[in-house]
Amino acid sequence: STAFAADIDLAKKSTIESILQAGKLRVGFESGYMPFEMTDTKGEFVGFDIDMAKEMAKAMGVEFEPVNTAWDGIIPALLTNKFDIIMSGMTVTQERNLKINFADPYIIVGQTIILSPSVKDEVKSYRDLNDPKYIVTSKLGTTGEQSVKRMIPKCTYKSFETEQEAALEVLNGKAQAFVYDLPYCVVFMAQQGASGGLILLDKPFTYEPLAWAINKGDPDFMNWLNNFLLQLKNDGRYDMIYNKWIKS
Ligand code: ARG
Repeated sequence: STAFAADIDLAKKSTIESILQAGKLRVGFESGYMPFEMTDTKGEFVGFDIDMAKEMAKAMGVEFEPVNTAWDGIIPALLTNKFDIIMSGMTVTQERNLKINFADPYIIVGQTIILSPSVKDEVKSYRDLNDPKYIVTSKLGTTGEQSVKRMIPKCTYKSFETEQEAALEVLNGKAQAFVYDLPYCVVFMAQQGASGGLILLDKPFTYEPLAWAINKGDPDFMNWLNNFLLQLKNDGRYDMIYNKWIKS
């Protein structure tokens, strides 16, 4: 009957259907968050998230379509369907989780500190930075920024558009500390730490699960993602990707 057909129309379609129909998986991320999403010398996107995204597209039998998006607009872009999923090292926070759904975490990280050698004797933890005489940097709209504001409220905080600019501020002697996710800091130290005599306080002082994010109200897609992650984690593919990008 027509009444029955109308009921079926009301059932919301899963993003899975539009992905399969389009023949491509549109993945939103912001390049620059080493070693998860970066741009190589040929202009190609590479990294831990990118490799997982490629495995995901392969498992769906569709093409991988990267959508590089500024961090401060990444959630609005998902909500307005600019891409199907965020795979961008995003920390699951309760505030973000009010707007979007997260799959199970694929890695746990936390905030760490890159220090200028000028303060190495007086600063041993984030607590020692809680003084207006210290300039602390991080990136706009990240959990790095949120943790500085919440846990080091008395420091002089300077926000930057990119991770790179915020970290270079310490290398260039204009700030005493850069607060950010451990994996990023480890890579930055390997690339530039020695030249500036920088110090990494590598014991994370926050607990941060990173997870893929999708729009709310799509249990079918969520179910697919969590089963895909379980498979990836246990058939060797996750370890291969992890060892390639994270394990030094
Ligand atoms: N984990 C941090 C957060 O969720 C930083 C992630 C930044 N990711 C990026 N692709 N730039 O705020």
